[in-house]
Amino acid sequence: MRPMNLTEKIFAAHQVDGGALPQAGEVVTLGIDEAFTQDATGTMCMLQLEAMGVDRVKPLSVNFVDHSMMQQGFRNPDDHEYLRTVSKRLGIIFSPPGTGICHFLNIENFVKPGMTGVGADSHTVNAGGMGAIYFGAGGYDVALAMATGEYRIPMPQVVRVVLEGELREGVMAMDVILKMLSILGVKGGKGKVLEYTGPGAASLSVPERATITNMGAEMGASTSIFPSDERTRAYLESRGRGDDYQPLSADEGAQYAEEIRVDLSELEPLIAIYPSPGNVETVASRAGTKIHQVCVGSCTNSSFENIASFAETLKGKKVAVDTLLYPGSRAVAMQLADSGYLTSLWRSGVRVMENGCGACIGQGGSPISKGVSLRTFNRNFPKRSGTPDAEVHLVSPLVAAASALAGEIAMPDQPVDIRPAEQVDDTAAFVMPVPLAEARQIEVVRGPNIMPLPDFDPLPSRIEGEVMLKLGDNISTDDIQPAGIYLPLRSNVKEYAMQATFNQIDPTFAERCVVVRDAGGHGVLIGRDNYGQGSSREHAALCPRWLGIRAVVVVQFARIHVANLVNFGIVPLTFRDPNDYERVSQGDHVRIDVSDLQGELFLEVGGERIPLEPAFEPKDVEVLQAGGSLPYFKATHRG
Ligand code: F3S
Repeated sequence: MRPMNLTEKIFAAHQVDGGALPQAGEVVTLGIDEAFTQDATGTMCMLQLEAMGVDRVKPLSVNFVDHSMMQQGFRNPDDHEYLRTVSKRLGIIFSPPGTGICHFLNIENFVKPGMTGVGADSHTVNAGGMGAIYFGAGGYDVALAMATGEYRIPMPQVVRVVLEGELREGVMAMDVILKMLSILGVKGGKGKVLEYTGPGAASLSVPERATITNMGAEMGASTSIFPSDERTRAYLESRGRGDDYQPLSADEGAQYAEEIRVDLSELEPLIAIYPSPGNVETVASRAGTKIHQVCVGSCTNSSFENIASFAETLKGKKVAVDTLLYPGSRAVAMQLADSGYLTSLWRSGVRVMENGCGACIGQGGSPISKGVSLRTFNRNFPKRSGTPDAEVHLVSPLVAAASALAGEIAMPDQPVDIRPAEQVDDTAAFVMPVPLAEARQIEVVRGPNIMPLPDFDPLPSRIEGEVMLKLGDNISTDDIQPAGIYLPLRSNVKEYAMQATFNQIDPTFAERCVVVRDAGGHGVLIGRDNYGQGSSREHAALCPRWLGIRAVVVVQFARIHVANLVNFGIVPLTFRDPNDYERVSQGDHVRIDVSDLQGELFLEVGGERIPLEPAFEPKDVEVLQAGGSLPYFKATHRG
């Protein structure tokens, strides 16, 4: 047998039908060891799982609550109670609010080297730091993985990333991934797995590796992975999970589609400048820029080591700006308390917030108007912070600490030596599944915030209506369907659509769509490059669909968003000639004959026919015709 890289080895061990692995781009079906959701995507995912008639999930499954946890009014508590009870009913582990951030908890407690997983969150790829293959996906795809134990994905190309040397003092894993972003940009990872290797990779801890694999999502990569080695063993043993360890690496002489080399010893502190994680510059070039806020944590940089480094830099001094900290998990918070760092953070004036996503998803922690916020997070898209005219830049915890003290962007200028953490165990926080007979007796609680799923009709033979919005490059799911203050509406599609869809780009959008929809017409969206980048948020397809959008025509899509469009019966299409983007305007009356989705497709506008290409796979045709994945599932699983 030919030598295999690590990605191929894990794919081959999980391929459902066995045999040779397909060529890059061809669909492969993988057996899935774990499937999980977080609460922003979980409610819809669970409603879909229930609609499929599932009695008990197949793989290890977890519902984490970390995104929307504020308890002002009934909406969030209603969702949490629904998630707690439906988890128990279906055999899913439930992680209650306050336990921590999904990806962080996942690495701490569930992911093992060599596993495969799928999660309803784009940063699910974080698990690659443990030597596992995990993908971010839309809620429906995760529901299907929970129901069947399988997941289909185009076979990615595998890129070898050789890390040489070791990080210098003041340089962190965040700087490694920002360097990668400066090389590949925000879409350079599309269709690829980034497989890290080399002596530099061996020098990094599992949490450092997870920082790097986490932000592979910012490059559009399918996923990223590190080998499982002695550092992996050390991490698992520190969590009392030494038995979960197995060594894993690529075979000698394995083939890769490309190779990238990064010398860690040459890196310096880097910063991703608003409004994109891809705008990478050196911290030195921005030193002295005034800031108004610092936020530390998120699923990217909230390990004990990260926060202890931050705390050591601050020790004995006061922060000069509002500084918020979100520990990755309660286990990390307990380690900070045990080691005395929690008290020293408080003494420095740091606001220690709940263990969750918080400011990263605009749940509190918004900066002042026109403010500059420095964050150790993974995203700095416009308006994500909840303050429309604020700017967010992304940095490492050490840069965040030096800057919090200075009140301006500053270079780390002192060596930090952190005290080691004692082992802690917070696994009792999880609500574990009960036996099937007992589970069948569980009453699933549906408060008034839990609305039934909307019913969607099949695809007509012709999409005919209006271009409701013409958009530019890099439209993110935050642009399409903002989260922040709207997240408590996640189970109420009508309200979420009417209040939030594209409201920051055009506040008239939802109203205009409803007028066209209710008159029997269809809505079409036009976009350019990297449309739908960012999160796995399926509401960014579900809400437009509710508003009557039936096709999205762009120059190029981001991967997860295409799957979400298909799942909700919106036809994803690209211009055959990217220049044709210029030939369509907002408000144009358009028509697309979709009676044969496998034939030639054209956008008819003003008497002209613009050739289109399908962005969907042949396997998606029947799903689109049925009006989406759920109607298709119901039609094909009758009885
Ligand atoms: Fe949460 Fe932000 Fe990560 S929303 S899952 S901390 S990207």
